Amino acid sequence: MLDVRAVVTGIGSCLPPDVVSNDDLSLVLDTTHDWIFSRTGIARRHVVRPGTSTGDLGTAAGAAALESAGRRGCDLVLLATTTPDQRCPATAPQIAARLGLAGVPAFDLAAVCSGFVYGLTVAASMIGAGTYDSVLLIGAETYSTIVDPADRGTAVLFGDGAAAVVLERGLPGTPGEVLHVELGSDGDHAGLISVPGGGSRAPHLDDDASRHFRMDGREVYVRAVAAMTRSARSVAEAVGWRPEEIDAFVGHQANARILRAVARRLGVAEERVVSQLAEVGNTAGASIPLALAWAASQGRLAKGDRVLLTAFGGGLTWGSAAMVWPGVHPVRAEGPSPG
Ligand code: ACO
Repeated sequence: MLDVRAVVTGIGSCLPPDVVSNDDLSLVLDTTHDWIFSRTGIARRHVVRPGTSTGDLGTAAGAAALESAGRRGCDLVLLATTTPDQRCPATAPQIAARLGLAGVPAFDLAAVCSGFVYGLTVAASMIGAGTYDSVLLIGAETYSTIVDPADRGTAVLFGDGAAAVVLERGLPGTPGEVLHVELGSDGDHAGLISVPGGGSRAPHLDDDASRHFRMDGREVYVRAVAAMTRSARSVAEAVGWRPEEIDAFVGHQANARILRAVARRLGVAEERVVSQLAEVGNTAGASIPLALAWAASQGRLAKGDRVLLTAFGGGLTWGSAAMVWPGVHPVRAEGPSPG
């Protein structure tokens, strides 16, 4: 049987045009630019205007990724998101239809900040099994719609955005190949990152406490460093990469201190750490593909580079992936088109 691999052939992104700086937030919250920047590395973030949805951003990013890959369509559309357009139905089929792909299978995948790495695993597995030849994997989020604007502990951390990759069937050794993936979860600690209301356990969203995102930042920090280090090290060892052979370390963009701590533990030099945090903050399931698209557009990723991805998020969930960077040109969509 032919040895088939999933290969990234295109990448696109979309950020909403409105930007909120740390100084803007300090006018409405008991916080300062210095606190936010020194604790997180975040200086500003993009946010949607009321009425713009995750699906709007995801559609624009998906179209950009298809253009980058030189394709009109694909066999499967996957959307990694925690902030779908509505509870029912899933957002992915609507994105597919808006991209002219009605009829193509499409579904949402909920793994919070690990969503992109989970999606990469699903896409690579389906291509490897011969189920589909091409997958459009989108990470899109609008956390501005779920954070409590009065909670300085979370409101300063998140931003909105979307990015997407196209994966196609290819041969081993093709630049863009996804070499190895590993995932994990621990639902015993689901309460550390949650939106308590709106699900079957507590369906009503009638007060702020039930509809807003909440996180035990201190506890999550410790667990994120440990899990990302363990998972990324295991993936690097599985593909036989020594730390000095890793050209780019792209971790979930939650906190620059976490990225540095994990890289230090892995033995990856600080200049190999990709961080877009200053510009976009934490964009949850969109953060890794946004960082990849940004790094590629800055010339920080070259064809053949060894890229190590790692993520950690609500669930708790985590996952890592090793891939070889393809010779793709990232396409940036100008802004979301309304649905
Ligand atoms: N401005 C000023 N002071 C603040 C702010 C703020 N915006 N937020 C909190 N503080 C205060 C706190 O009240 C606390 O004050 P106290 O000491 O008087 O109690 C003090 O600053 C320190 O608070 P900590 O929470 O200990 O601050 P920490 O250094 O841990 O930074 C942060 C907080 C940035 C949230 C950090 O814990 C973190 O990054 N955690 C991990 C986040 C993460 O990895 N998330 C990934 C998953 S996200 C997802 O899945 C959607």
